[in-house]
Amino acid sequence: MNCDDTRRNDRQLSRSSFRHLVSLLFRRRFSFRDRQYRLADQQAVTLDSAPENWHESFIEHLASVLKPRVCVELGLYRCELFNRIISHAQRLIGVDINAEAGNWMAKSDKVQFVHSTTDEFAATLREHPILIDMLFIDADHSKRAVLRDFWNFFPFVSPQGIIILHDTHPKNNDYTQPGYCGNAYKAIEELSRHTDLFEIMTIPVHPGLTLCRKRTTQLSWMEVGIY
Ligand SMILES: C[S@@+](CC[C@H](N)C(=O)[O-])C[C@H]1O[C@@H](n2cnc3c(N)ncnc32)[C@H](O)[C@@H]1O
Repeated sequence: MNCDDTRRNDRQLSRSSFRHLVSLLFRRRFSFRDRQYRLADQQAVTLDSAPENWHESFIEHLASVLKPRVCVELGLYRCELFNRIISHAQRLIGVDINAEAGNWMAKSDKVQFVHSTTDEFAATLREHPILIDMLFIDADHSKRAVLRDFWNFFPFVSPQGIIILHDTHPKNNDYTQPGYCGNAYKAIEELSRHTDLFEIMTIPVHPGLTLCRKRTTQLSWMEVGIY
């Protein structure tokens, strides 16, 4: 092979490696874009396809499986969820700062309406403790209030009890305003760091529902104090 041949071969080689590099780059960019498109598609499905109140059927079903002895809901509005759970729990307490909420509560000797702030109710529990098997936090949706509700009521949640938090995955920035989901999602970001006392996960469907289990052992029947 003479010098010219070698140079020609070198040029061919560098041209083909250049083409290979370009094809790799394009392939990378294409698959990255492809992934972005696919993610956008998935988000369109997960964020917009469910009705706003999908949490009601979900929590009702959960209650029908768990059959909690004591169920507490913080923030009732018109008791739409609360009333659906009555048949699945032994005792239910609903708390709302607005007295109107009590008018929506179905009549039953299992239910109790507490007309107060969640803070005031937590103070009452410190005097007269109860054990809560299922707690639904859905009152003030600011990060500060959600964290306060969580830690104020945590001592009263039974070992292996379930805590549910609403409005924790708003579909866009507009929904993070105080009148809607607020910045409750930031409370979840913070709580997610404390996984020794509980496990926690969020269903990323607008407006978002976070499930939390108070536990120190994975197997419920190994938990000290459960039986
Ligand atoms: C989003 S609504 C509750 C909806 C209800 N959980 C459901 O799923 O149908 C929020 C309720 O929390 C109540 N609320 C807001 N801040 C509160 C507080 N600090 N203490 C008690 N209730 C509060 C409001 O009056 C309102 O009725």
